Amino acid sequence: MKKKILISAGPTREKFDAVRFWSNRSSGKMGYALAAAARDAGLEVTLVSGPVALEPVSGVNMVCIESAAEMAEAVKGRAPEMDIIIMAAAVADYRPAEVISGKLKKLPGEICVKMVRTEDILASLGAAKPAGQILVGFAAETSDLLANAAGKLARKNLDWIAANDVSRAGCGFAVDTNAVTLLGRGGEKIELPLASKSEIAAKILQVLLS
Ligand code: PMT
Repeated sequence: MKKKILISAGPTREKFDAVRFWSNRSSGKMGYALAAAARDAGLEVTLVSGPVALEPVSGVNMVCIESAAEMAEAVKGRAPEMDIIIMAAAVADYRPAEVISGKLKKLPGEICVKMVRTEDILASLGAAKPAGQILVGFAAETSDLLANAAGKLARKNLDWIAANDVSRAGCGFAVDTNAVTLLGRGGEKIELPLASKSEIAAKILQVLLS
C-alpha cells in the first residue's frame, strides 16, 4: 500500500473587512515542489494550499483553504491517517480580533486593530502525533537560525525541521530557489545548499524516506 503524505503550502489570509486581509508573501512554491517530489517518489499526496497563483499539482489530492482556521480544520481532520506530514505553509500567527462587515470607511485620524493569536497547527499535530508518524516543520527565520529552529523542533514535538534563513538572497519567500538545514530529533544535521525548490524538495523526501 502507498504511504500517505500531507503537505501544506502557501500563505493564509485573515479577513479584516469585506475587501481587506492580513497575509504574507508565501508563493506556495516550496510546498508545491514538495508535493510533486512526493508524488514522484510514489506516495499518495494530499496538498492543503492557501491562496496562490500556481497551477494545481497533477496527481495529488488538492484541498484549497483561505484562513488559518480553515487550514487547521483541513489538516487536523486528515492527520491521523497520514504517515508523513510536512507543514511548509506560512500560517498567519495572528488574525484581526473582529471581522468588520462591509468595507471599512476612511475616517480622520488613526485606527488601532486588535490582533489575536491563531492556532499553532503544527504544535497541535505534535501534541496528538500517532506512533510511527513522521512530522516535519519548516522554520522561517531572520536571525539565530539553528537555535530558533531547534527550539521549534523540540517545542512542537517534531521529527524533522527545515531551518530556512529567509533573509538570505535566493532563499525563502516567493523565489524559485532555497537552501535549508534539516535538523532531526536524533541530533541529525543535514545541509541542503542553494538549489531549485524542486531539488531541495527531492532531497528532503529522500531523507524522510531513507
Ligand atoms: O511559499 P514559498 O514562497 O515557496 O516560500 C517558502 C516558505 C519560506 C514559506 C517555506 O520555505 C517556509 O519556511 N515555511 C514555513 C513558514 C513559517 O510560517 O514558519 P514559522 O517559523 O513561522 O512556523 C514554524 C512552523 O509552524 C511551520 O512549519 C509552520 O507551517 C507552522 N505553523 C506556524 C504558525 C501556525 N499558526 N501554525 C503552524 O502550523
